[in-house]
Amino acid sequence: MKDKTYRVIQWATGKVGTIALRHFIQNPNFELAGVLVTDANKAGKDAGEIAGTPPTGILATDDPAAILATPADCVHFAPAHQDIEMVCRLLRSGKNVVSALGPFYPTERCRAEVEAIKAACREGGTSFHGSGIHPGFAGDILPLTLIRIMERVDHIHIYEVVDQLANPSNYIEIMGFGRDCQELLASPSRQPEAPYFFAQSMALVAESLGRTIDDLTTKLEVASAKEDIPYPSGLVKAGTVAGQHYEWTGWSLGKPLITYHFFWKMGDQNLSENWECGETGYRIVIEGNPPMELRIPEPKTTEGNVRYISLWTAMAGVNAIRSVCEAPPGFVSHRELGVVGPRGLLRPASEPELRAVCSPELQP
Ligand SMILES: NC(=O)c1ccc[n+]([C@@H]2O[C@H](COP(=O)([O-])OP(=O)(O)OC[C@H]3O[C@@H](n4cnc5c(N)ncnc54)[C@H](OP(=O)(O)O)[C@@H]3O)[C@@H](O)[C@H]2O)c1
Repeated sequence: MKDKTYRVIQWATGKVGTIALRHFIQNPNFELAGVLVTDANKAGKDAGEIAGTPPTGILATDDPAAILATPADCVHFAPAHQDIEMVCRLLRSGKNVVSALGPFYPTERCRAEVEAIKAACREGGTSFHGSGIHPGFAGDILPLTLIRIMERVDHIHIYEVVDQLANPSNYIEIMGFGRDCQELLASPSRQPEAPYFFAQSMALVAESLGRTIDDLTTKLEVASAKEDIPYPSGLVKAGTVAGQHYEWTGWSLGKPLITYHFFWKMGDQNLSENWECGETGYRIVIEGNPPMELRIPEPKTTEGNVRYISLWTAMAGVNAIRSVCEAPPGFVSHRELGVVGPRGLLRPASEPELRAVCSPELQP
């Protein structure tokens, strides 16, 4: 039987959006219906030019009204900032939405957003799913899957390691690398709301195990640069912030149930702390019986640095699209989604495809 083809729209073409767009063009189970950009220089360009593929005949637009009027099965939403009102308009226009910005799972803090989304889904007969590597995979559905072969769970740890020196990005500035250490500890660059955002993933795990997260505690430690650390667009000066370790713990019945550890660093050589946290990637450690450990290291390529966190995020959403489109209307978390059934992954890689995935210049 021939697989169904899904008409898709890519909303925003940053790091995540460009990888998703390229996949939509290359996977025959998708038909690209539209591309929304905010960058005036990209508007009017063929989607293939943006994604680094041959022309597609689909031109990018910066007009949301044109996208709302375009018939499609699903919008993959990956802009820089959340816009629940726009998500709801897309859902009401009859298009399912898979979003890298969440919400991922209903908690008290995102209740209003989830309720607005549910109402829009009812009106449009559509579904919404929040997707990504973390939140969306490494700290929720992945440990829940590993737990299925355990007989007792004591404490779940998720380690996210991002080496910004190995693969520099605008997060060096966004995260406050190069700031005064005491100043950053007193006023972190990471949004104060961030732990509560990730708590959606914690709640998904806890509630799937018949518990609730009763309390959330946070810690932050920093490492300073032992020497100046240059990177392509700047310099982290000696003595300033060169490493950050955030630790957020969700508690249940007075005990820690799940801890997210984030190690963001400018390499290892010049850090004042020896965290021994490893290279970029994820590690899931579950204390219990039997003890469990799983590593997802960033693959090494011969063609330079690739932002696999962006690729993982894009594919977490893209690979869920078919199941989200086939789900009954409503807010679809991993609990409702179940095992996703992506199509078109079992295909031989073409040479241009391999080059595109490995090419650093295609990463905006
Ligand atoms: N859940 C997860 O695990 C996870 C992981 C990584 C990222 N994310 C989220 O996914 C989203 C995309 O990440 P990214 O790394 O691709 O970001 P990015 O590289 O910064 O790209 C974001 C894109 O958003 C558009 N944009 C720029 N300014 C904007 C504005 N003021 N308002 C709305 N859109 C604007 C631009 O699209 P055009 O260039 O097309 O104009 C830009 O390229 C972010 O919101 C990020 O937080 C989630």
